[in-house]
Amino acid sequence: MQQRLQKLLAQAGLASRREAEKWIESGRVMLNGAVASIGMSADPAVDEIVVDGRPLPRAEQHRYLMLNKPVGYVTTMNDPEGRQTVRELVTALPERLYPVGRLDLTTEGLLLLTNDGDFAQQLAHPRHQIEKTYLVRVRGKVDYAMLRQLEVGVMLEDGMTAPARIDGVRSTGSHGWFNLTIREGRNRQVRRMCEAVGFPVSRLKRISYAFLTLGDLAEGQWRELTRDEVARLKKLAQRA
Ligand code: URA
Repeated sequence: MQQRLQKLLAQAGLASRREAEKWIESGRVMLNGAVASIGMSADPAVDEIVVDGRPLPRAEQHRYLMLNKPVGYVTTMNDPEGRQTVRELVTALPERLYPVGRLDLTTEGLLLLTNDGDFAQQLAHPRHQIEKTYLVRVRGKVDYAMLRQLEVGVMLEDGMTAPARIDGVRSTGSHGWFNLTIREGRNRQVRRMCEAVGFPVSRLKRISYAFLTLGDLAEGQWRELTRDEVARLKKLAQRA
């Protein structure tokens, strides 16, 4: 987007707009290799702006994306133990990215990543109670009394869980499947809840986060969120 040079210098934190205008007038600012003059506009993503011989630091553009995390990747950008990280799946992006919350090494599915640290922190804050739905596969037959317990609340070592929602219950061979929707986000919560009622989890996939679903995003692939999706998430994150 084209903006007045003095505004771009001010946004980069170099000077006030008025001061920046003076710099432009005195020939301290170059635009694409030529001395700039008052009234010029530029697009910092495309144009080269140099002040006193030094390139203007590029304003970091905020990026918001959704990844379909495969099993076997840690939700960090850098793992001291040398395991595969989700960063390796989004190498096309140069920016530093923060995961919004976390999925276990052996959990797959929808993970949001962004370089907007405030947004990541706000969304992950428990007070926002964002709904997350997990596809759960358990060993053995699903037992309705146990499912009911998951819905009502389960006592874990860090306290009682809030009511959850169950749907899509079905069985295939020696496994049972269901969708579990929770608003909390404690460490390993779904696995611990299921274990507590006697269901050992053999596969866990997050299939939705708030209004977002994976859609046809293949495993290991990511996509940028649309402007509308980002705006809706920001609204959720700003709720008191
Ligand atoms: N609950 C879990 O147990 N693990 C996850 O990765 C996410 C939710």
